[in-house]
Amino acid sequence: MNIRNYHSLLDLNTFKVNVNAEFYINIQSEKDLLEILKNTSHKKIFILGGGSNILLTRNIKGLVIHNQIKGIKIKAETNKHTIIEVGAGELWDRVVEWSTERNLYGIENLSLIPGYIGAAPIQNIGAYGTEIKDVFQELKAINLQTKEIHIFNKSDCQFGYRDSIFKNKLKDKLIITKITIKLSKKNTLNLSYKAIKKEIEKINHKQLNSKDIREIIIKIRKQKLPDPQYIGNAGSFFKNPIINQDTLNEIKKIHPDVPVFKNTNQMKIPAGWLIEKLNWKGYRENNCGVYNKHSLVLINYGNASGKDIVNLSQKIKQDVNQKFNIKLEEEVSII
Ligand code: FAD
Ligand code: EPU
Repeated sequence: MNIRNYHSLLDLNTFKVNVNAEFYINIQSEKDLLEILKNTSHKKIFILGGGSNILLTRNIKGLVIHNQIKGIKIKAETNKHTIIEVGAGELWDRVVEWSTERNLYGIENLSLIPGYIGAAPIQNIGAYGTEIKDVFQELKAINLQTKEIHIFNKSDCQFGYRDSIFKNKLKDKLIITKITIKLSKKNTLNLSYKAIKKEIEKINHKQLNSKDIREIIIKIRKQKLPDPQYIGNAGSFFKNPIINQDTLNEIKKIHPDVPVFKNTNQMKIPAGWLIEKLNWKGYRENNCGVYNKHSLVLINYGNASGKDIVNLSQKIKQDVNQKFNIKLEEEVSII
């Protein structure tokens, strides 16, 4: 195992910010990980996955552990379900592809989300009406200080909208090494989103499977989200705010057409709509800006620093707060 000194993280974060890790190691197995944790004298440890939900504003002190534990293993199978255990360093979208190629159901709506599966429970990744919590069984994690192994079941994780215990009480305390998810053999497609329905109308066959929906989701996402390979970004910069009826009524006085997403106990407004209404869409400030096809996505045109992007995000946040009386919260972890 090779610990590198002053290792560039430029190609290891999708915002393409140029900072270094004081020390960096790439680990491929739980055994290597435990050995590193037992022998390291570094007090500060940062766990890196695909770098697609972080904004790095400085060089990282201490040790960066890049989790590359791979492998997709069938753990159990019944005539209704297939339960798989996946190494945390496996690319999330490869897992989705693996499942749709086997005609399994449950994660097809989460196609094309970047990053590794190990980070997926941290913010309970979600898209098009599905969240990882819907298929989640358990995860295995190692405490960075005590080196003890813990198993978390679904209720232990305290999943919420872009939230879990790993962003709160257990923030930066654990490294997730394995995730177990339960996929369905039965066709359980979730077609509730308008954008999906619209695409289905265009194609002329009725018996859709998870692979068809994966293709539809990829098509929809490519139309509005920038590919981090070409444009630095971390997806939605802010969460969609959860609002109450009074705030909604205030906004409706001026904008009766405000889009609102309701479920049983929450009401959300798309932050992208609020930001677009304030004319930020396509705005550019030096080397960073707001994507011209989606206002919730901040982009790096090339040489922006993490601080440049934070400055821009704060201006947007202030504007939304002043004009709509809504406090946006970052989805991206600012480091
Ligand atoms: P990283 O950015 O590497 O890490 C994120 C956080 O998790 C960090 O705090 C890190 O320390 C911690 N972490 C990472 N791995 C581990 C581990 N094994 N153990 C403990 N802690 C760990 N998200 C959605 O929910 N829905 C979307 O539709 C979506 N679309 C996106 C589109 C684009 C174009 C981009 C760039 C991002 C999008 N995202 C979306 C955000 C992002 O892809 C997800 O949050 C993803 O799960 C992050 O994974 P990662 O491996 O890149 O995590
Ligand atoms: N909208 C605008 N202008 C914009 C963008 C959006 O007015 O520039 C409005 C439109 O009314 C649109 C609505 O916002 O109908 C919703 O937009 P979209 O379908 O793109 O979804 P979103 O709410 O912006 C959320 C997630 C995405 C996820 C999609 C699909 C959050 C913070 N973001 O975005 O997740 O892929 O739904 O389900 O919840 C991410 O987390 O990084 C991410 C990309």
